Amino acid sequence: MNALDVESIRKDFPILDRQINGNPLVYLDSGNTSQKPRQVIDAVREHYERHNANVARSVHTLGTESTEAFEGAREKIAAFVGAPAAAEIVFTKNSTEAINLVAHAFTPVSDDPRFRLGPGDEIVVTEMEHHSNIVPWQLLAQRTGATLKWFGMTDEGRLDLSRIDELITERTKLVSFVHYSNILGTINPVDVIVAKARQVGALVLLDGSQSVPHLPVDVTALGVDFVAFTGHKMLGPTGIGALWGKFELLDAMPPFLGGGSMIETVSMTGTTFMPPPARFEAGTPPIAQAVGLGAAVDYLTAVGMPAIEAYEKTVTAYALDALQSVPGVRIIGPTSTVDRGATVSFTVEGVHPHDVGQILDDEGVQVRVGHHCARPTCVRFGVPATTRASFYLYTTTDEIDALVRGVERVRKVFA
Ligand code: ALA
Repeated sequence: MNALDVESIRKDFPILDRQINGNPLVYLDSGNTSQKPRQVIDAVREHYERHNANVARSVHTLGTESTEAFEGAREKIAAFVGAPAAAEIVFTKNSTEAINLVAHAFTPVSDDPRFRLGPGDEIVVTEMEHHSNIVPWQLLAQRTGATLKWFGMTDEGRLDLSRIDELITERTKLVSFVHYSNILGTINPVDVIVAKARQVGALVLLDGSQSVPHLPVDVTALGVDFVAFTGHKMLGPTGIGALWGKFELLDAMPPFLGGGSMIETVSMTGTTFMPPPARFEAGTPPIAQAVGLGAAVDYLTAVGMPAIEAYEKTVTAYALDALQSVPGVRIIGPTSTVDRGATVSFTVEGVHPHDVGQILDDEGVQVRVGHHCARPTCVRFGVPATTRASFYLYTTTDEIDALVRGVERVRKVFA
């Protein structure tokens, strides 16, 4: 059925041995944050036990080792996403910070026309976005007088591209959209949107928070300008994410945060700035977290992203079939595995998702309930919230069976 040895993969994840409320842990919340293999935990511990020092400041041995580990992680991450150069990877706290960093570059007085934004200019997003790819653009529109527009969705949970020519026009400065929806699982047609954006000269930012962990992603092949992603959803630590951007664009952008490490020289009357990526990495960066993310990338590469994608498709197909066989369950999002990932949102008729989550937790099944930081998507589908099960390379069909048994119990309790 797949090229993945899931049982041996599961042995690498110490937390999967846990019991919750007397039941084996069934962790179905990887879209929220992934679990961590021993290899990542060991890499972080080893860094603190053997190499810990600040980076890019110290000439001593530990400082050199730490800097090499930090920059080595940048190189691994660049290779993992197909970036032409490590200097195109800016370390951030998470995807949210990466998106805000790009938003910060747009001002009414930018010297670079690509980043000059004011009344009459437009930014285009979609109704399917996580709040982190809506709110920064709303704030930017308020600051500059620009207009925010968005793609709607079809009833199946796909982007409605029928109005693409009205939405992306000569006024559009940036199109920013999600690759793989964190709530619906939908995988969007990047090529169609990029082709239209290129016709009008707009920049394109892709939110890869859910795609980079689960699919082979090659930023060059995608043809976009920026990709934001986060470490903790791809087996890495929290507190580390990345912005990939074409070097020439990053080099045209102003600093984001000011402070140490991002400067060439400082006087009391002015400062000159480092080239990217240092220009955007003020202060002591998340060093051990970057090393941990480097180890996560090694792990994912060794397993193989095509194998992970293929395996998750089989688990998702199994889950979609099993959940739809339960009366009263409605899938919110695509019901086939075509252009969709391993995230399944659903409602149970007559039961609030928080009650579903509570009963599932009693059984050891960990899912996320709520609007998943994508409230406009819930509004579009007429639901206040959903229950969301999200899978990863360590998810088994036995765990899906436990989810379905839990949902059947929910139905009995609330009958
Ligand atoms: N952590 C957020 C989620 O659960 C993004 O989708």
